[in-house]
Amino acid sequence: MGDDPSRRREELDALRTGIELGMTLIDTAEMYGDGRSESLVGEAIAGRREEVFLVSKVLPSNASRKGTVRACEASLERMRTDRVDLYLLHWSGSYPLEETVRGFEDLLAAGKIRAWGVSNLDPEEMKKLVALPGGMACATDQVLYNLSSRGIEFDLLPWSRKSGISIMAYSPVEQGRILGNKILKQVAQRRGATPAQVALAWVLRQDGIIAIPKAASAAHVRENRAALELRLGVEDLAELDREFPPPSGPAPLEMI
Ligand SMILES: NC(=O)c1ccc[n+]([C@@H]2O[C@H](COP(=O)([O-])OP(=O)(O)OC[C@H]3O[C@@H](n4cnc5c(N)ncnc54)[C@H](OP(=O)(O)O)[C@@H]3O)[C@@H](O)[C@H]2O)c1
Repeated sequence: MGDDPSRRREELDALRTGIELGMTLIDTAEMYGDGRSESLVGEAIAGRREEVFLVSKVLPSNASRKGTVRACEASLERMRTDRVDLYLLHWSGSYPLEETVRGFEDLLAAGKIRAWGVSNLDPEEMKKLVALPGGMACATDQVLYNLSSRGIEFDLLPWSRKSGISIMAYSPVEQGRILGNKILKQVAQRRGATPAQVALAWVLRQDGIIAIPKAASAAHVRENRAALELRLGVEDLAELDREFPPPSGPAPLEMI
């Protein structure tokens, strides 16, 4: 979002509709549109900063101690705010994690972020992270999770639950690719819902998981908000399990 000037009004409307409906967590990153997504978010939240929970991310190539601080300051400027509620390392790169954690701690001390976390870290990397000094302060691991990418259920999800670290599920409707699935459509029809609502209700069926669908139109935002009222039944879940089987063993963490 924020890339195409001709869509700007519609995207601002989508973000503001979400805030009005109580979908107040907004996820962005310095990488998205090379800063243009953060600028769009800044415009959408102008005058409403207190209502939203802002999440942004530092690129691994910027994630040295000083680079993390500089990247965050640039994000704050683009979003026209003085703090990020949750600041994430987008994925692990060549800087040692302890350096990035030091950068996060500098930002916390300066009041520029309220919490920090990571994204796309697999269970082994997470274990190393929490063993570092200050590593236990990690609030979340943002990872790919949806009906067709269930690998985290085998290891990362049980581990993060035990460790008190939330999971943010990105691409919860698989970027729209699963929405034409026959079984998903059948379940949706039976429940008087749409495939997107079933896919989101499925991600949200368990505690400790946050879903961050991207929706660039107010109509999609409204549809997604209504997924919060949908509770899938045992029969729905069994049918979805047959079509989208849970993992039977460990697998490398999937990324988009
Ligand atoms: N940490 C990471 O590495 C990482 C990677 C990828 C994504 N993310 C985050 O996760 C967010 C979502 O991921 P994503 O954009 O990859 O995938 P997604 O949310 O699964 O899918 C977005 C696509 O689904 C469509 N859509 C949304 N609601 C719909 C509905 N109710 N009915 C039909 N289509 C619908 C959107 O269309 P419209 O745009 O037309 O509404 C868009 O094309 C991103 O915005 C980003 O913040 C993080």
